[in-house]
Amino acid sequence: MKLLKIISVLLLAMCIGCSSGDDGGPQVGGPTETPDPDSETPPVDNSDPFLYSATQNLKDVADFPLGNIVSASKLASTSASNTTFKDILNQEYNSITAENDMKMANMFTGPDTYDFSDGDAIVAYALENGFRVHGHALIWHSSIPNWLNTFEGTDEEFEAQIEAYVKATVAHFAEVTDGDGVPVVASWDVVNEYFDGSAVRTSLFTQRIGTDFHEKAFQWAREADPDVKLFYNDYNIAGEVDKRNAIISMVSNFISDDIPIDGIGMQMHLNHDWPSTDLPTSIQDIADTGLLVHISELDVKANYSDDLSELTVERAQAQEEQYQRVGYYYTSIVPQAQQFGLTIWGVRDQDSWLYDGGSDWPLLYDNDFNTKITHRGLVDGLEGVAP
Ligand code: XIL
Repeated sequence: MKLLKIISVLLLAMCIGCSSGDDGGPQVGGPTETPDPDSETPPVDNSDPFLYSATQNLKDVADFPLGNIVSASKLASTSASNTTFKDILNQEYNSITAENDMKMANMFTGPDTYDFSDGDAIVAYALENGFRVHGHALIWHSSIPNWLNTFEGTDEEFEAQIEAYVKATVAHFAEVTDGDGVPVVASWDVVNEYFDGSAVRTSLFTQRIGTDFHEKAFQWAREADPDVKLFYNDYNIAGEVDKRNAIISMVSNFISDDIPIDGIGMQMHLNHDWPSTDLPTSIQDIADTGLLVHISELDVKANYSDDLSELTVERAQAQEEQYQRVGYYYTSIVPQAQQFGLTIWGVRDQDSWLYDGGSDWPLLYDNDFNTKITHRGLVDGLEGVAP
């Protein structure tokens, strides 16, 4: 293990050495090298209390896949910042989720009409660069194409549209396999956020199909692909005990009724101080279902109550510890066979859906792609350093 680490640090140092040369791009992630007098890029400032020089890649310190989010347009772009983005992605991660491109509003363009082109581009990038793709998300109340919202057919016709969409999408993305015959799209969030608290959320799907639309969706997905891993995904599974219990009871009903389900995605949109003790409890509870456990959308707000006008060292350290706790509890509580992976919801702070014009700093890299101390927190946690 130690030897492996030394080798990976050396490899990383070589890799940084060869990539941070002429293009003058910002220094990416890894260890600070001897300053190059000709370089326009200053090395990471070690005296900056918000940053640190990473010596290890996230994917190398975990025994399970480490993910981040992408879009087809970013992957296609050759701008300096998107090139750096891809360098970091390829260096530190081995799993990707489409932030928006594989949602229904983007792909279900009209009755019986689908546009899979963005997803296809993401899958092609994954195949070429050795990533696993996690499909996100087949049915979500917040991603409904306009035409479907105003669909004038009967409820039966509405349901037939959704059934056909789920089956066509799952079947389509099952087609691409890597050199070993392993499908690139390993998994799908079949239903996202079915619950609102512990109650079933009212949505177009409950109104037009019924409150059992989620069971049907899992069955349709399974009919389309016997092997792809099927996930239920939701937020505040850590933090909201009643909601968690509702999800756990849904899972036991699925199991007793033979509704296919393989895993649970805990989104993990957290705050620096929330949840506290419920974080390990929730991970334990979800692991106790026996299903795969995916930390599917990790980010940690440092300023959720807007009490800061700029980040303080104290708050950044609390946030670092929250990242460490997630890495540590996931690694130490979830049995290895159930560790599906951990996905972070964004690279730079400014790319986060929570950035809010610069009033929060929820991620692992600053806006120049430097590794923040939150990155160190996650590395420590993944390495088993207790918080
Ligand atoms: C968010 C994206 O990050 C935003 O770009 C988009 O505007 C809205 O969706 N839960 C989910 C994700 O399951 O799909 C959401 O992603 C964040 C909350």
